[in-house]
This record gives sequence, C-alpha cells and structure tokens, in this order.
Amino acid sequence: MKIAVYSAQPYDRRFLDEARQRYAVDAAYFSDPLTLDTVPLAQGCAAVCVFVNDQLDAAVLQALHALGVRAVLLRCAGFNQVDLRAAANLGLFMARVPAYAPEAVAEHALALAMTLNRHTHRAYARVREGNFSLDGLLGMTLNGKTVGIVGAGQIGTAAARIFKGLGCTVLVSDPAPTPQLDGVATRANLDELLAASDIVSLHCPLMEATRHMINAASLARMKPGAMLVNTSRGALIDTAAVIDALKSRQLGALAIDVYEQEANLFFHDHSSDIIADDVFQRLMTFPNVLVTGHQGFFTIEAMREIAAVTFDNLACHMNGTPCANLLPASS
Ligand code: NAI
Repeated sequence: MKIAVYSAQPYDRRFLDEARQRYAVDAAYFSDPLTLDTVPLAQGCAAVCVFVNDQLDAAVLQALHALGVRAVLLRCAGFNQVDLRAAANLGLFMARVPAYAPEAVAEHALALAMTLNRHTHRAYARVREGNFSLDGLLGMTLNGKTVGIVGAGQIGTAAARIFKGLGCTVLVSDPAPTPQLDGVATRANLDELLAASDIVSLHCPLMEATRHMINAASLARMKPGAMLVNTSRGALIDTAAVIDALKSRQLGALAIDVYEQEANLFFHDHSSDIIADDVFQRLMTFPNVLVTGHQGFFTIEAMREIAAVTFDNLACHMNGTPCANLLPASS
C-alpha cells in the first residue's frame, strides 16, 4: 500500500514517518496542496493524506477515485472542505483525526488573548531596540473578567477550564448540552454572551449555519472594546465587518489563528512575495490585531497523535475493521 501525502511540510514528514514504521505502508510526500491539478501526483497510490486547506470537492474526489484512490485520510479534525455526498456516492473511505490535543488549541487561544492583552509581542520588539517605554502597553487584569466561549466541544471545554483557572467568569454558548462544564461555566445564548463578554473565543465548527456568525449585527451586540479570538475556522468571521468594527473601535482587539482566505497564504513563506490580499493586509495595519498562521494544533504531542491516528485509520481501511473516525456521510 502506498499513500500520497499532500501539503506535506518537513514536520509532517518527520511525525508521519515515525508512525509509519508500525505499518507496511510507503509514502510519497508532496508540498503541493491537493487540487484538481495535483490529483495526478497520487498515481499508483491507494490512499491520500490531506490537511485543512486541501480541496476535497466533488471534482477532486471523482478524479482521485478514477485514479484508483479508495481512502482519504484527513490529518485534521475539521472537514468543512469535504463534499460528503460526493464521497459517499463514490464509496470512498474518509476518516479524520477528531481530537488530537484539544488543550493545545485552547492553550493557543489563551496565548493569543494574553499576548494581545498585555502587548508582549510589541514589548519584545521594543526592548530589543532599547526602548523601555510602557506607553501603549496598558492591558487589563483578566482575573474577574467575563470570557464567552462559543462552541463548548473538546477545545471549547478546555478553553473554558483554562479561563476559569485564571479567575474569569466563563459563559458558554452551544446548542448541545454541556454537563461537563457544570460548576465551571454558565450557559447563555449567543446574544447574551456577546453582550456580557470582555473576551469572546470561537470554538464551534464551520458549517452553513455558523458561516459569518460574527458579522456587522453580532459585532454591534458585543460589549464595546471587547476582544475577539478565533482559533476555529476563518469563515466564522466576516472579515470586512470586523475591519469596520475595529475602525469604529466597537471591537477593541482581534486575535486570529485562522483566516477566511488563508488557503492562499498560510503554511508557506511569502516573505519575499507581494501579498495581493488587501483585506489581510488591512488587518496587518492595526496595532490591536494579532494573527498567527493556523498553528493552534502545532505541538509535539498533537503531531504525534495526528500521525498515529492517521495510520490507525488507514489500518482499519486495509484490514476491513471498524473505524471510529469515519466522516459522517461515509459511515
Ligand atoms: P467539537 O466537535 O468537539 O466541538 C464543537 C462544538 O461546537 C460542539 O459542542 C457543537 O455542539 C458546537 N456548536 C455547533 N454549532 C454551534 C453554534 N452555532 N454555536 C455554538 N456552538 C456550536 O470540535 P473541537 O474539537 O472542539 O474543534 C472545534 C473547531 O476547532 C473545529 O471545528 C476546527 O474548526 C477548529 N480547530 C482548529 C485548530 C487549529 O489549529 N487552530 C485545530 C483543531 C480544530
């Protein structure tokens, strides 16, 4: 069995090769993302392994199937980029890594909020230049503040516990029951949460119902000057509306690890390129905006878990054994 690994960075190769030792599987690594144009790279492979920004629409899935690919292994939790109906019609084995280190992403949300609140990123640069002025570095004490967690699944639950540990009042908004947060957080509907929170942190999946859930109307309902943190998926936020809210100062600060158009930017070095995305470049001009390039998951523990579960999923496919990590429509 041979698999084609798309969007492969050197660190992916390191951890996937480590996990691969346990299985009789060959791997071909490609730094290119999976698109219709790069499907032929999977020639001779029975499975492909993909990441968050690889294309898995009907055309790509059909082309992979025609090439002989029978299994698609997502080395991520989110699967908003997959045409589930097309996958089911083709009978493809589609599996993901549903939870690899929820705490890693929750800790990154905290890191973003802490950095932006206390301006440590600006202080770091200043001090290295011999500038010890505190002007512009004023933050707020998080103890006693209200933090709103939108989506209290695995990552949201970890985030709620972390912020509770800081002495914050934690509100959660989630259509599903949240008994695991009894005594930690109080349930609220989205409007109540937006109105009351000093920090709003997004942890729900991207679906049609959640696309642009943070838009001009919801931003207007937020507490003036509050901070918005998004480590989930970029399209939860209407970026143009967020820019307007930052300009009017209704939104006090924005920290994002994900961006709606990130597929054209993230995971690659564009430091010598002219970046054509004017919306992204406008975001970069705000002193109260902090962006990281989708690194919330990026810890040693998470990378090991992703690689191990990816090959466990492949083993289920090869051996015909039940797989707990199938995507919904292919189960
Ligand atoms: P999960 O499936 O455990 O939890 C998602 C929660 O969101 C569920 O409890 C669900 O009921 C809730 N939800 C659904 N619709 C909602 C709505 N309209 N409002 C509020 N809550 C809603 O997922 P998990 O593992 O916690 O991951 C959350 C998201 O984090 C993923 O979908 C993925 O997009 C993102 N993620 C980001 C990573 C990064 O590196 N930045 C890494 C891993 C995941």
